[in-house]
Amino acid sequence: MYFTALAALMVILVASYQAPTNAINVSSLKSNPSSPLPPLPMPFRVPLDPRGELQLSWNISYANLEIYMELRVAKLRYGVVLGMSDRGELTNADLVVLWDSGTKSYFGDAWSDSEGHVSLDSQQDYELLEAKQKPDGFHLLFKRPFSTCDPRDYLIEEGTVHIIYGLLDQPLASLEQLNLSRIHTGVQRVLMLRPDMPYPTLPPDVRTLDVVAPNVIIPNQETTYWCFIQKLPENMPKNHIVMYESVITPGNEAIVHHIEVFECSPDIREVPDYSGSCDDKMKPGKLNFCRHVLAAWAMGAEV
Ligand SMILES: *[C@@H]1O[C@H](CO)[C@@H](O)[C@H](O)[C@H]1NC(C)=O
Ligand SMILES: *[C@@H]1O[C@H](CO)[C@@H](O)[C@H](O)[C@H]1NC(C)=O
Ligand SMILES: *[C@@H]1O[C@H](CO)[C@@H](O)[C@H](O)[C@H]1NC(C)=O
Repeated sequence: MYFTALAALMVILVASYQAPTNAINVSSLKSNPSSPLPPLPMPFRVPLDPRGELQLSWNISYANLEIYMELRVAKLRYGVVLGMSDRGELTNADLVVLWDSGTKSYFGDAWSDSEGHVSLDSQQDYELLEAKQKPDGFHLLFKRPFSTCDPRDYLIEEGTVHIIYGLLDQPLASLEQLNLSRIHTGVQRVLMLRPDMPYPTLPPDVRTLDVVAPNVIIPNQETTYWCFIQKLPENMPKNHIVMYESVITPGNEAIVHHIEVFECSPDIREVPDYSGSCDDKMKPGKLNFCRHVLAAWAMGAEV
């Protein structure tokens, strides 16, 4: 009994140290277009970094309990890291890494321990489906089950998932040399699992109303709250809101973090026009009467 347990443990250790043979050779995958994939519809999408250079799109298969993920990297240099951890830390994270050793590229399921050491997982649960340079960047398509039964993997459940990302700017001779604290990394919060509901059919007499803040020059600071007043058309009859979604200028998707629409209290007769910082001391005091939330949207919520 004793002997089997020990032996099994050693096999796992040996497997996890033979990094490159365990990982997939991306160059051989790229040069092998023998299995063209049907275009997968990716209904969910979120920019990962504020510049939108990294974008994650995904699709959920509830039938097979797995997620298809597509990572787009605008400018891929020596690799990219995508991970999930409890609160977005770089330690104790479940990682999927594409790395370039200088001569070859590898893809593998990895993990980081509580000190940040990165190792390849003995159980490879991310399946690489496609790696391809396209006009808008490098696309990496892979899939993973919600639950892998590997204690080193993150269990994808309903609720917020903290996604971490990193970009390699130099080659890595081996995955064990990866130190996440020394590369450019960031965190994004994502609602990964969405209810498996059919898209609702809207009534035929549906009308849309755009509430948009035009010509905003984005200030050179990390966070800006922009307030904008829009008056409803004169004599607008009573309406029911059946749906709302975001309207964002293409190219700015990675900058707009969230949007809220408030209704102004009918007690104030005249609402002053305003388009400016919500923290501006010159903001009209009457805007404090516009606090009733009608709609809220946050990054990654759009379909
Ligand atoms: C990876 O694939 C390339 C291109 O097919 C090949 O030249 C190379 O020998 C492969 N490397 C390994 C480690 O299999
Ligand atoms: C997700 O991908 C599967 C498999 O390709 C496809 O059948 C399904 O329609 C996609 N789901 C959505 C909501 O697009
Ligand atoms: C990673 O780099 C940081 C900062 O340079 C260092 O403090 C840390 O010890 C390194 N971690 C590992 C696991 O080598």
